[in-house]
Amino acid sequence: MGPEFLQRHALAVADLQNMARRHLPRGIYEYVARGTDDDLALRGNAAAFDELNILPRFVRDVSQVSTACDFFGQASSAPLAVAPTGFASLMWLDGEIASARAAAKAGIPFALSTGSITPMEKVREASDGRLWLQLYVWPQRDMTRELILRAEKAGYEALIVTVDTPAAPFRPYNMRNGFSIPFRLQRRNILDILQHPRWLYNVVFRRWLRTGAMVAENYPAALRVPVGKATVGKFNLPFSDDVSWEDIRDIRRLWKGPLILKGVMHADDAAAAVEAGVDGIILSNHGGRNLDSAIAPIRVLPEIADRVGSRTTILLDSGIMRGADIAKAIALGANGVLAGKATLFGVGAAGEAGAFRAFELLTQELARVMTFSGAADLSQLTPDLLRIPADFARIGGGK
Ligand code: GLV
Repeated sequence: MGPEFLQRHALAVADLQNMARRHLPRGIYEYVARGTDDDLALRGNAAAFDELNILPRFVRDVSQVSTACDFFGQASSAPLAVAPTGFASLMWLDGEIASARAAAKAGIPFALSTGSITPMEKVREASDGRLWLQLYVWPQRDMTRELILRAEKAGYEALIVTVDTPAAPFRPYNMRNGFSIPFRLQRRNILDILQHPRWLYNVVFRRWLRTGAMVAENYPAALRVPVGKATVGKFNLPFSDDVSWEDIRDIRRLWKGPLILKGVMHADDAAAAVEAGVDGIILSNHGGRNLDSAIAPIRVLPEIADRVGSRTTILLDSGIMRGADIAKAIALGANGVLAGKATLFGVGAAGEAGAFRAFELLTQELARVMTFSGAADLSQLTPDLLRIPADFARIGGGK
């Protein structure tokens, strides 16, 4: 599927999602598309955006609408970055490189997950765009420090430390689909896989011909085992249940570039993050994938913007599927958003061209919403443009 096909047939991120659903085995598709348990948080994220109505403004000059913004002192074509997600290479051969290149072409930052299959150095070589690296604080703090130094050496601009996963999340649909790490062919997934021969050939077979097994290559050598062989207990996959603010301050001392804390949801945690010296926070419920009763980040944005918006950069992810979602987040006090699923749906539909189409759609939709809201630039997206339901916390004053 080339760019012309996508221009004609992918008219919303939902179209890319449908294309990805057809291309991918069910187990892989659900791994990307779903949340956890009953998908309450997943649906809650979408519902929260939908509950916010815009009060359009007219008789304003919107002949030149600009979505341009500044992330950490550098220009971005839109207030959008790619959220870190594991295993893009399960959607498409070299999926991480495909989305990093698409992001560079779109003029937005790309965040690579530590859990990616492509190593950070290879992504750096393959893309001339802005790269951020996401990591967890591992139980082995010295390995975390080594990873940070490696990211610096590889030329990564910003570091995202995810703090919202103190335990391995429980996602029953993965088990029901026979999709687990370690990955094993079994009765529950073999039919699913055989029914998707294009995926099997392009993603698995071509990869296998080239390098053999898929390995999470950013992991320290001791933990680097094929996706088919990793054993959670034995290899201490990357969850620490005792991360402290002292850990964050240690990382702050080590990392000279922008430092961003991901997974912040409580205003007190946002304030503590600023105290610990971070440059930015990402409000996130992990795309609804960790705690099913977690509130949608957009609902806590006003309160957090009020509390720390003048002192830090506020980003938000979880549920960004439309340009209107971006406009609403900006109007409530965010400096920008990250899109994970939307990017993976693009990659899963058509690799680099699909990811680029996702960014193009989101940016065009944002510009259209701005035009109908009388906002020629992002600073004109203000809270008075929204009718905000009472259960959204206080309106932000930080901007
Ligand atoms: C990993 O962070 C995931 O959400 O699968």
